[in-house]
Amino acid sequence: MEENYIKAKDLLKKYNQEQLLVCYDKLSKENQEKLINQILNIDFEQITDLYEKTKKQITYTNCKVEPLSYVDKYKMSVEDRAKYKQLGEDIIKQGKYAVVTMAGGQGTRLGHNAPKGTFEIGIGIHKSLFEALSDTLKKAMKKYDVKIPWYIMTSVENNSQTIEFFENHNYFGIDKKDVKFFIQGELPMVSEEGKILVDEKGLVKQAADGHGGIFEAMYKEGILQDMENRKIEWIFVAGVDNILAGMVDPLLTGLAISQNCLAAGKSVVKRDPFENVGVFCKKNNRPSVIEYTEITEEMAKQRDQNGELLYGESHILCNLFNIKSLEEISKNKLPYHSAHKKAKYINEEGKLIEPEKPNAYKFEAFIFDAFERLNDMAIMRVKREEEFAPVKNAQGEDSPETAKELYLKFIENKD
Ligand code: UD1
Repeated sequence: MEENYIKAKDLLKKYNQEQLLVCYDKLSKENQEKLINQILNIDFEQITDLYEKTKKQITYTNCKVEPLSYVDKYKMSVEDRAKYKQLGEDIIKQGKYAVVTMAGGQGTRLGHNAPKGTFEIGIGIHKSLFEALSDTLKKAMKKYDVKIPWYIMTSVENNSQTIEFFENHNYFGIDKKDVKFFIQGELPMVSEEGKILVDEKGLVKQAADGHGGIFEAMYKEGILQDMENRKIEWIFVAGVDNILAGMVDPLLTGLAISQNCLAAGKSVVKRDPFENVGVFCKKNNRPSVIEYTEITEEMAKQRDQNGELLYGESHILCNLFNIKSLEEISKNKLPYHSAHKKAKYINEEGKLIEPEKPNAYKFEAFIFDAFERLNDMAIMRVKREEEFAPVKNAQGEDSPETAKELYLKFIENKD
């Protein structure tokens, strides 16, 4: 222990991060050990590099950005539709299809202090986002008479609460053996001066590493192996907050197979140039997404000859991957983006600081940065009212109220 303490101290000195030991003397033995382990596991070079990058503006000057072509679900020829459906249904019925739900987030923005998936939007007595998604999955399992494994990505923060929730709800009637949880990674948060923060417990302040952490986590936590053991070929990945996510989609699968693509994504028409959604595009000839925080106003407003937004295919975080592409992507880390956030921390004098405005950087990988590792991607435009009802804000757009309305309308029309 003593040896590790000295090692940690030397590291902190070298990287000018000695504030991390500010609470050490007051910690329990267990937490002292935890803190030292955290410090020894930090890649200080990486954190320094990420911090330096926060000062640089993202530009697309060295990058050729173009729109990415798509197929409209409702404008396919009858023959194509039948072909895609058949190809996709074969995969599903043969048990080669799995679903992943990314549920690492908390419902903080919704005023819900628990895993986001446990949030109820009022679509039935005590029906949570998790339960609504489980309904979609159960319906598909019944329709195709097959088991569809469900993998749920959690975070260090919400993993045990999420599992407890599933236990308490008897896995919503799904066989427990077919529901697997895996935890995404974390990265330290840094101050505007590049200092790694100390959290309220006196430990290193860490935050989930973004949904792009899914690839590394799936590999490290044995999920890819489990999929291989089950002979899974196609994996649908979506966020927990889209209550209309069409998770079992034969058409999308068939389209990807027909276009010889190892990945596919669904898009909806962007509501207006400034909607908070990323849009599909091609960067240097590779499929990609430009995030709403990173698109220039000029690009966002550009229209084609039909008056449609040139970059108007919204990425709704409903993507499909072939297992081969996941194996390939998980070999190398994705880049990290920084987000300026409000973060409570203990300062160098040991005082708890509760900032009123953003004071720290959080580093996140985005799932769509992985698209650039693929040669091509099949994009299917779907209808917003059928497949996209995100629950993000407490009020207004993309709130429980709007999602509930869309969900109920959709269920009413379908059943
Ligand atoms: C996201 C997309 C955006 C897309 C929009 C559609 C990003 C950066 N952008 O925006 O391109 O158009 O959704 O709704 O994602 N999650 C984790 N772990 C994490 C972070 C997120 O599991 O570390 C999950 C969340 O639980 C949620 C989903 O990923 O289900 C989306 O994350 P969120 O941070 O809400 O993304 P948005 O900014 O809304």
